[in-house]
Amino acid sequence: MCGVLRVTQKTRTKAVAVIGAQWGDEGKGKVVDYLASSFDYTARYAGGHNAGHTVIFNGHRYVLQLIPSGILRPEKKAVIGPGTVVDPLALVSELDNLKESGIDVQGRLFLSNRAHLIFPYHREMDKAAEAARGAAKIGTTSRGIGPAYEDKMARRGIRVCDLLDEGRFRERLERVLTEKNAISSAAYGHPLETRGLVEEYLEIAGRIRDLVTDTTIILNQALDNGESVLFEGAQGTMLDIDHGTYPYVTSSNATSGGASPGLGVAPTRLSGVIGVTKAYTTRVGSGPFPTEMVDLDAQEVRARGNEFGAVTGRPRRCGWLDLVVLRYAKMLNGVDSFVVTKLDVFDSQPEIQICTGYRYKGRSIKEMPPDVETLAQIEPEYETLPGWRKPTPGIREIKDLPTPARDYLNFISDEVQTEIGMVSTGPERDATIVPRGSQLAAWL
Ligand code: GDP
Ligand code: IMO
Ligand code: MG
Repeated sequence: MCGVLRVTQKTRTKAVAVIGAQWGDEGKGKVVDYLASSFDYTARYAGGHNAGHTVIFNGHRYVLQLIPSGILRPEKKAVIGPGTVVDPLALVSELDNLKESGIDVQGRLFLSNRAHLIFPYHREMDKAAEAARGAAKIGTTSRGIGPAYEDKMARRGIRVCDLLDEGRFRERLERVLTEKNAISSAAYGHPLETRGLVEEYLEIAGRIRDLVTDTTIILNQALDNGESVLFEGAQGTMLDIDHGTYPYVTSSNATSGGASPGLGVAPTRLSGVIGVTKAYTTRVGSGPFPTEMVDLDAQEVRARGNEFGAVTGRPRRCGWLDLVVLRYAKMLNGVDSFVVTKLDVFDSQPEIQICTGYRYKGRSIKEMPPDVETLAQIEPEYETLPGWRKPTPGIREIKDLPTPARDYLNFISDEVQTEIGMVSTGPERDATIVPRGSQLAAWL
């Protein structure tokens, strides 16, 4: 009999995405580090070294930018996927930092041969574009992320696999440089500074060659063999190129859907999504932010929460928790379980405001407006909840949290109709509560 009637039993191994539900910096690094011990692989699918993921344990602070946070778990494997953009110099410096901290990545870190490269001219163009925007600047991380993705989409990008073939690399780069120089001369009156660029990149190629492989095959075979994969999102839902507060966004799909093209893993493989949110909201860079706090509150929260960029050191703008954003993030990402981080930052807060809806021109709206002009005119509708005025770090069970803290979490969970599967009460690995019986607990 021919094979058309053959029944194939689909085995679904654990493949869970961790995504930022807000504007980035939600604490994804800490959450991924916590979960990574229960997964065989951790994989980054989008963005580049614009990300800064902080992990703290045993008194040591690590900031991962491109390398997945799961690398800090000995024996676990990590993948930098085809959907990322890679600055090889930054990658080597990150590798050096890990080595200095005694983290050996040999044989367990894999870089996709299909990932696109970031060049110094991407950084220059990033800065020049920001300068040209003047007051309307996005506030990018100046890492060249946007221009590198532009080149990828314009089909003139140069990829990791090209870097490993000297002849091809020279030829491609020289062709691209001719084009870039023409643009630079026309726009800025001078060509780009590119002396020594080819040699510098070829030298660095020698340092990353051993990491480069077809990660798409590695991950698919791993899943076929029943190994588990944690997809580490970077940035956040509201910075997503298609669904975020465009144009004040990053240049990739930060939402869970990005994991499929970003790693070459079919969407049907994904078995769950974890959305990470702070107990409040922060944003770095420009763009509308409906629940932004008034100056004094923001200063206090910024100081208590140490809200300064992990990569750029920029002060983060602070605001109240926005449930319209969380509902939007739940819909876009298919969030099964939310993680609430930084609950401890509210330990001394007398009253907490929480945004349950938006008003626009006096009318109540429940949906996220598509344009930043409307979003900038939104008036948030707030509920005020009492604070708890007690320390929460060190608490291991939900039932031991002060009642107003539990009420705050229950309020969020009820409003977004989703479980809270983890609560973080400090930056360290062990300042974490996982309610028993949650979906998230089942993934550990
Ligand atoms: P990511 O980009 O989402 O990984 O987040 P970042 O690492 O950029 O920023 C989160 C910051 O909050 C880092 O400095 C973390 O160490 C810190 N952090 C994470 N969870 C908690 C928490 O529950 N309480 C406190 N106080 N800090 C936390
Ligand atoms: P993690 O993974 C917070 C922001 C920048 C800027 C916009 C565009 O640590 O959460 P880009 O350099 O990407 O072109 O900048 O996106 N941004 C982030 N904000 N966390 C991040 O990453 C971010 N990555 C980019 O501040 O507003
Ligand atoms: Mg960050």
